Amino acid sequence: MTDQSPSAGIESVLKENRVFPPQDPATAGTPEWLISSMDAYREQHQYSIQDPDGYWSEVASELHWFTPWNKVLEWNAPDAKWFVGGTTNICYNCVDRQVDSGHGDDTAIIWEGEPVVAGEPEIRHLSYLDLQREVSRFAGALRSLGVRKGDVVTIYMGMVPELAIACLACARIGAPHSVIFGGFSSKAIVDRVCDAKSKVIVTCDGAWRRGKVVPLKDNVDEACAELATTPDAVETVVTLKRCANDIAWSSDRDRWWHDLVAEQPDEVPCEHMDAEDMLFLLYTSGSTGKPKGIVHTTGGYMVYTYLTSKYVFNLIPDLNKPARSQGPNGQVFWCTADVGWVTGHSYIIYGLLPNRVPTLMYEGAPNFPQEDRFWDIVERHKVTQFYTAPTAIRAFMKWGDEHPKAHDLSSLQVLGSVGEPINPEAWMWYRDTIGGGRCPIVDTWWQTETGGHMLTPLPGATPAKPGSCTLPFFGIDAAIVDELGVEQPLGTGGLLAIRKPWPSMLRGIHGDRERYIDTYWSKFEVDGQTPAGCPSPYYFPGDGALHDNDGYFWILGRVDDVINVSGHRLGTMEVESALVSHPTVVEAAVVGMPHDIKGTGIAAFVTLGSNQEPTDELRQALRSHVADEIGAIAKPDQIRFTAALPKTRSGKIMRRLLRSIAAGETELNQDTTTLEDYTVVATLQKDEG
Ligand code: WT7
Repeated sequence: MTDQSPSAGIESVLKENRVFPPQDPATAGTPEWLISSMDAYREQHQYSIQDPDGYWSEVASELHWFTPWNKVLEWNAPDAKWFVGGTTNICYNCVDRQVDSGHGDDTAIIWEGEPVVAGEPEIRHLSYLDLQREVSRFAGALRSLGVRKGDVVTIYMGMVPELAIACLACARIGAPHSVIFGGFSSKAIVDRVCDAKSKVIVTCDGAWRRGKVVPLKDNVDEACAELATTPDAVETVVTLKRCANDIAWSSDRDRWWHDLVAEQPDEVPCEHMDAEDMLFLLYTSGSTGKPKGIVHTTGGYMVYTYLTSKYVFNLIPDLNKPARSQGPNGQVFWCTADVGWVTGHSYIIYGLLPNRVPTLMYEGAPNFPQEDRFWDIVERHKVTQFYTAPTAIRAFMKWGDEHPKAHDLSSLQVLGSVGEPINPEAWMWYRDTIGGGRCPIVDTWWQTETGGHMLTPLPGATPAKPGSCTLPFFGIDAAIVDELGVEQPLGTGGLLAIRKPWPSMLRGIHGDRERYIDTYWSKFEVDGQTPAGCPSPYYFPGDGALHDNDGYFWILGRVDDVINVSGHRLGTMEVESALVSHPTVVEAAVVGMPHDIKGTGIAAFVTLGSNQEPTDELRQALRSHVADEIGAIAKPDQIRFTAALPKTRSGKIMRRLLRSIAAGETELNQDTTTLEDYTVVATLQKDEG
């Protein structure tokens, strides 16, 4: 384990001893809880662990398969194959299956745009029939561009329905998608397009964000220019017109979305996909500078996101009658994440649509035109399930109770949290001010790599403790272990480990087998079997955690060089590389620091070249430089210039020390005996950025 020992936070979380039993269904405004007691949870969990084949066969049978599987799981650590021999299509299960069962007119997607004109936002409702037509047309359009099964399509769009349509169209024809978050820069596009060898990019002219246009197409053009002379040159860019902002046009490369789909038929059949065919690639940060292309496949991901959506959010489709009218009883699910993150993939699109509950997409910022925008949306669409991140909750708390109080939030049934540990204060505020004390909170722990929820309460069963993601979902065998994989007693901390494969687990890192094994399957020496590249049978998520005396899990944070900013991972190396790529910088060290809203902010310690002046302008220039290189999310909150970085005698940067300094600790009671030059620390402490 690195010096970020997870035990540091144990004291503080153990002081939280409040327990909140689940509310009655009637109190929460739902007719029933699908899993309604701890006994029901335990019974199903036990079945899922003891007989995974039986359990997952039953679940998978609730969905449509073109040919049935002949084996549920083939496990040769670290390689899992689920539903071996089965063929299906996730787009079919999201869309066509609903149409075929007579629900074509039910609402699939509710979308609200950001701009508000004369008090009214633009709203679109797409039924499953609408979706079938639009997805088919875009699938046909992609085929007309030469996209075939297995070709990776890059998607870089704002939060418009066409983003979901583009993903589903890819799934329909078996072309894995690689969605890049619209907040990332053109450099991020270049890296990901090269890594995926993707020839087609789907984008928008612009995206609305806080009243301004984000120039998505310009960023794509910049990336294409950089790639033009390489073997990874982009062949086609498809642009959806959203903001009607001015854009440049290259007649050989550029095509309008509306022109392409106009020529396509309303029905394009779904490709029969092997359960293990790749569904998508999604890039995430690791402890090195290079993002990892996480590979997810079709069958297991489909089954697991379907089931977690259903039970964790208590989705009940037949409350949606009559079709298209969002009556007080019809459920409307809203996940506020962007589709550019895994949360959006799994819980806006793929897990939600097979459950036949409308999924709401909102285009813009939570504080546009005012700080009550989210509550305005909840009231207008009678949202029943609301799923957001602790960083957003802390921002709402800061903006003031008057905003939620001005709206009728009585439609809410279940509140969700994801992305980082939620502090008990924010949890209580969420419960009382947003949920009126009526709604259970589900704090869901999972990762890009896990595809779906792993540790989570079930809203009608699990007594909740503020700050704990509680217990494993069905099929998940989680434990707190030491580096030898030995389970630690209740009440102690250690490393979180997942000891059995699960259907939506990642199948690899695109093009990097060694990194896949190193990062996830080499941590634990289970029965002495691991070092020297021999994979451990346990999955290592990279989080430190604690389980309390009731077996509840409390996530304490990352144990590698990854920081979690606003619920999204950034590698410290990535930000350091961006800083060092600036001509004035010779060396940089980046660490996380406590931040009121973001949870963790970014502190950068920067050493400049000999003739450079450490000015405020330069500080701003460096911050913008990082935003250009990676995206605004990676902008350091604090930059401290320093003549030297604290290093050990062997030359390793002492990050632990930097973390304490960035956190403003004045007493550094750490072992500094290996420090090369103590005066560096004294200077750093004095010199605040
Ligand atoms: C990392 C995964 C899963 C979608 C959002 C982030 C942290 C995530 C929780 C939670 C405590 C959490 C972990 C994890 N994390 N959810 N409920 N409580 N920590 O996805 O970018 O892949 O990041 O986020 O550290 O490893 P991601």
